[in-house]
Amino acid sequence: MNLLILGSGGREHALTWKLAQSKKVSRIFIAPGNAGTSESGTNLNADPGNFQDVKNIVLKNKIDIVVVGPEAPLVEGIHDFFLSDPDIRNIPVIGPDKSAARLEGSKDFAKEFLIRHNIPTASYRSFNKETAAGVRSYLSTLNPPYVIKADGLAAGKGVLIIDSLDEAEKEVLSILNGKFGKAGEKVVIEQFLKGIELSVFIITDGHTYKLLPEAKDYKRIGEGDKGLNTGGMGAVSPVPFADDVFMEKVRKRIIDPTVEGLAKENITYKGFIFFGLINVSGEPFVIEYNARLGDPESEVVIPRIKSDLFELIEGVAEGDLQKRILEIDERYATTVMAVSGGYPGDYEKGKVITGLNGVTESVVFHAGTKSDGDKVVTSGGRVLSVTSWGNSVKEALSRSYYNLSFIKFDGIYFRRDIGFDL
Ligand code: AMP
Ligand code: GLY
Repeated sequence: MNLLILGSGGREHALTWKLAQSKKVSRIFIAPGNAGTSESGTNLNADPGNFQDVKNIVLKNKIDIVVVGPEAPLVEGIHDFFLSDPDIRNIPVIGPDKSAARLEGSKDFAKEFLIRHNIPTASYRSFNKETAAGVRSYLSTLNPPYVIKADGLAAGKGVLIIDSLDEAEKEVLSILNGKFGKAGEKVVIEQFLKGIELSVFIITDGHTYKLLPEAKDYKRIGEGDKGLNTGGMGAVSPVPFADDVFMEKVRKRIIDPTVEGLAKENITYKGFIFFGLINVSGEPFVIEYNARLGDPESEVVIPRIKSDLFELIEGVAEGDLQKRILEIDERYATTVMAVSGGYPGDYEKGKVITGLNGVTESVVFHAGTKSDGDKVVTSGGRVLSVTSWGNSVKEALSRSYYNLSFIKFDGIYFRRDIGFDL
């Protein structure tokens, strides 16, 4: 089998690394990939958002299955594009079609879906330009802080948490007036939930699902969870509070009704679902759905899959996921992300990365890197993450930190407290 993986981050490197270990996979292509993915596959210079380009490389390289990493091509309809083109109709796309990807692509759709299927989530109301006059009176019914979400994809910037009512009202109106373009034509305002966040993942063929390992992500740039939000500075799996009792609630109240709800609404979901949950005094609530795996969560979730991940991918493609085997490594996996100085604000690119060969006990997943002759240089904010296994969170983390100490580039920054709260 020849696979094409779309995307260029740590998630896609982790997918490439794992799928390259499958006996059933002959060749892996990644578009566009990074310096890490080119170690286990062949990078192709194509933009996942340009579906015609994707079609061309699929045909040229005799691709059998396409795995979509990021959300944007899914929300824009890459799966539907394949189904509507006779040349590529029979090539399975792992990732939901446009209708199913609304779980991530429209916060308003996701909230309506959650309420329709009685899935625990924060109470909310949606507004558009026509109903904007009601924003203030709805905000007044809530206790601060106020949670404000642009309906569509806004490059991770569409969620605002604001303490003052005046400020919150101003923000809602500024979003409705175009601050995030089309993504802000509707705004969801919801109740703030206080608790600890958890990322839960499944893979589904539209009928059944397999539960993948859960993870905890550390989103803030600063130690002690302070400072600006980032794409994610590190992750840990398993998560101690996600014990059997808690995960049973997650299955019964959240995952099962989601998968059944999609089927009832004739939405055939084929791919990964990422449940962004919050644990409020032992009760799970859905904060958001994503139509993909998480990053950096993938860098700990995928390394905990002991069995062949391609089996699950093929199970989705062939609609027989139920029959496929999933074995999970009992050990802890941790990952620590090294980022460019200045991130998540402005940062420089093109810094030479050294010391990658010093890493022997961990796996380095590249995120924002590229090859420059025989050198590897930085090409993004999140540069690479170092994943390790251990019999405890502590053991895995000290391995990640030890191995990360060999890696250098100008301006390197990483949090030294990943897992501090566990
Ligand atoms: P999202 O971009 O949807 O992942 O949201 C960004 C972050 O906002 C989440 O990871 C949470 O930390 C926070 N958040 C979103 N909704 C809520 C809520 N209802 N209550 C508390 N925090 C929230
Ligand atoms: N780490 C959070 C995400 O992938 O959205």
